[in-house]
Amino acid sequence: MAEAFNVVPKSVPTFYFIGVTTTKSSIMQIFPLWMEILGHPEMVIEGVDIRIHADPQDYRQAVAQIKYDPLSQGALVTTHKIDLYQASQDMFEYLDPYARTCGELSSISKLDGRLEGHAKDPITAGLSLDAILGPGYFGRTGGQVLCFGAGGSGVATALHLINKPDPADRPERFVFVNRSQWRLDNARAMVASHPTDIAFEYVSNQDPGVNDRIMAGMPPASVVINATGMGKDTPGSPVTWEGLFPPHSIAWEFNYRGELDFMHQALAQRESRQVRVEDGWVYFVHGWTQVVAQVLHVELTPELFARLERAAATMRK
Ligand SMILES: NC(=O)c1ccc[n+]([C@@H]2O[C@H](COP(=O)([O-])OP(=O)(O)OC[C@H]3O[C@@H](n4cnc5c(N)ncnc54)[C@H](OP(=O)(O)O)[C@@H]3O)[C@@H](O)[C@H]2O)c1
Repeated sequence: MAEAFNVVPKSVPTFYFIGVTTTKSSIMQIFPLWMEILGHPEMVIEGVDIRIHADPQDYRQAVAQIKYDPLSQGALVTTHKIDLYQASQDMFEYLDPYARTCGELSSISKLDGRLEGHAKDPITAGLSLDAILGPGYFGRTGGQVLCFGAGGSGVATALHLINKPDPADRPERFVFVNRSQWRLDNARAMVASHPTDIAFEYVSNQDPGVNDRIMAGMPPASVVINATGMGKDTPGSPVTWEGLFPPHSIAWEFNYRGELDFMHQALAQRESRQVRVEDGWVYFVHGWTQVVAQVLHVELTPELFARLERAAATMRK
């Protein structure tokens, strides 16, 4: 029996934001400014809130709206990148190599009647990490990476580091900690399909006390990432308030809004342990500009990115 979708015909060009709490995002204020700059003031943004690990049919419905409605132009997908890919990959006429390698997608667009899916995170997580670390960070410091969360963005970060040609830009060791085992298996499969000298470890855990001990075992100057969504999508933090960040480490919270408990825990150790704290704002701007450029088919030159970044900064909450 043919699948039944509830496709709503739009009266204006519509760009979707598929996430969890979309209306709270700064993009709702930034998007109209960007559309003015890009010469598409008629384009509107619409949030699609889907609960975490939703029914596959919910993801297929969101994709069908874009695939079958002519004025639905595309979407940025956050949080659901892997789940949406798994539920709906057969609905796409084209999936880019990163989407197939990482088993996720963050951009849905249309070209010449084809529905296209791209995984932008290996590019956008990478651009953000490079901006935070600068060249040669790992060679210079001997730091390693501890990544809480082996979802779409965590895996993309790992792929970016695997692909670094200069050994000084690659950590010796990268530890993934994730609640479910299947996400770790997914990360392991991605790593196994690439030659790499980075020693990857996979820990299935959701006990913050255990995470504290893992964090305590990381060398100085390590990069500790919160890619779990805790502190925004769900309450709390992967570590406790007693957890000690490595001296001179970089704590990178992938989000820029929400309670951001992990970020506040790291900020409390800024002086005592010389922790540098980064949030997800730069990642947000790179992520959105890449997908908007893909959906609108515009070339994202450094000059255009700088204009969009400046406009976004005026709306930062
Ligand atoms: N600033 C930005 O623009 C930007 C860009 C990308 C991502 N992000 C944010 O980063 C977060 C992650 O994004 P994503 O796309 O990677 O999401 P995702 O694919 O859902 O990944 C999150 C991962 O974290 C794991 N996790 C959740 N709670 C955990 C816990 N207590 N302990 C260990 N692991 C836990 C989940 O495991 P299970 O399989 O057990 O659920 C899941 O594998 C989201 O909040 C997203 O908004 C922000």
